[in-house]
Amino acid sequence: MAGKERMLITGGNPLEGEVQVSGGKNTAVAVIPASLLCDEPCVIENLPDIEDVRALVDILRELGAKVDYEPGAALRVDPRGAEGDTVSYHNAQRLRASYYLLGALLGRCGRANVPIPGGCEIGTRPVDQHLKGMRAIGAEAEERRQILRASSDCLTGGDVFFDMVTVGATVNVMLAAVKAKGTTVIYNAAKEPHIVDLANFLNSMGARVKGAGTDTIRIRGVQSLHGTTYAVIPDQIETGTLMIAAAATSGDVIIRGCIPTHMDALTAKLLEMGVRVNDYDDAIRVRGAGPKRAIHIKTQVYPGFPTDLQQPMSALLTMAKGTSIVEETIFDKRFRHLSEIRRMGAQVRVVGQTAIIDGVTELYGAPLTATDLRAGAALIIAGLMARGVTEIYELEYIDRGYEHIENKLRSLGAVISRDLAE
Ligand code: UD1
Repeated sequence: MAGKERMLITGGNPLEGEVQVSGGKNTAVAVIPASLLCDEPCVIENLPDIEDVRALVDILRELGAKVDYEPGAALRVDPRGAEGDTVSYHNAQRLRASYYLLGALLGRCGRANVPIPGGCEIGTRPVDQHLKGMRAIGAEAEERRQILRASSDCLTGGDVFFDMVTVGATVNVMLAAVKAKGTTVIYNAAKEPHIVDLANFLNSMGARVKGAGTDTIRIRGVQSLHGTTYAVIPDQIETGTLMIAAAATSGDVIIRGCIPTHMDALTAKLLEMGVRVNDYDDAIRVRGAGPKRAIHIKTQVYPGFPTDLQQPMSALLTMAKGTSIVEETIFDKRFRHLSEIRRMGAQVRVVGQTAIIDGVTELYGAPLTATDLRAGAALIIAGLMARGVTEIYELEYIDRGYEHIENKLRSLGAVISRDLAE
């Protein structure tokens, strides 16, 4: 019987050199469903070669769209023959963002049935705001027997007030509203870079979306959307992961093709730790030599410190001098990576939604299990810092969201590989 795939990392090598960031995962998974709203073929460029993108390509095909896609190359979608309104259970389970098909299909054909999605187990992930948003713009929407259903004979648009800032529900309402008969205003909208990118993609097809990047987004419905060619923005979280990896290994890395302003919250924290960070137009240089100080971080919605970087960052903090405090305010199960890193010698206590990390001077390689995508990234960071060999299992989480991560790290001098465990 074949063994289980694992990643092997021999820690201790400072990362050095230059690396290119891939296209953004979170923007890709919103823009691909959005292509269904188009009335002509459209082309999406700069997509990362990751499992979430492959799953969405399968979903578009399942719905009847004609899709040309070679991983790593542009995606061409001709949605004109897409008659389907139902995503299969199997495909919906492959990624969290399959629920964007709810908004995209409602906007396209007035009906959508999407099984409650899979994705990372990082805490309770309710969908009440998505459903409330659909209702506010004139749809019937409910969750029944684990299936999200929405339908409308005429989407009127309307005012949507979110109870909390939610990326997913903001995206879903934007998708449903672009071709509504009237105007939609989303209050308390998410401001993440991928919300702006989605708005830019929709506007490049002739949509009328204003205010993305602020907390009020105004969408005037249009009758039809024309074809476009659009390149998604670089991945904010991959950029951050590489910055943290450079700092963690006391390395000197230039990360190219990124948007430095998207990284301001992380950059500020790395500077506070004593890491040197320099921004250029579309590159960031991180130099991590020297001692690193403990810090306090609290996850917040954009432009605050992103929850998706909390996990890799808290791995780095396990070796910072002093006691760091990490408060997770967005998801309630986002410290499971720290239980794994404890096996390597980290000193961590978790009290409710706060992790108290006493920095140690050594971590030791150990067998570890990734429990979600960014937890996987955190384990890689810990492995890069540790003495000896770290084995990481459940790599499918990492492959969902990081394009060829070990090739990128290897090109910077990391000793990292994959094999099948005995
Ligand atoms: C998105 C990102 C994910 C990131 C997260 C927070 C994508 C594909 N994923 O996830 O990487 O970690 O934003 O930045 O872009 N909530 C409700 N009811 C709802 C919706 C959300 O209570 O209907 C709560 C959630 O439980 C959570 C908070 O709102 O506590 C934020 O969630 P949300 O922003 O919606 O996260 P996702 O869109 O799932």
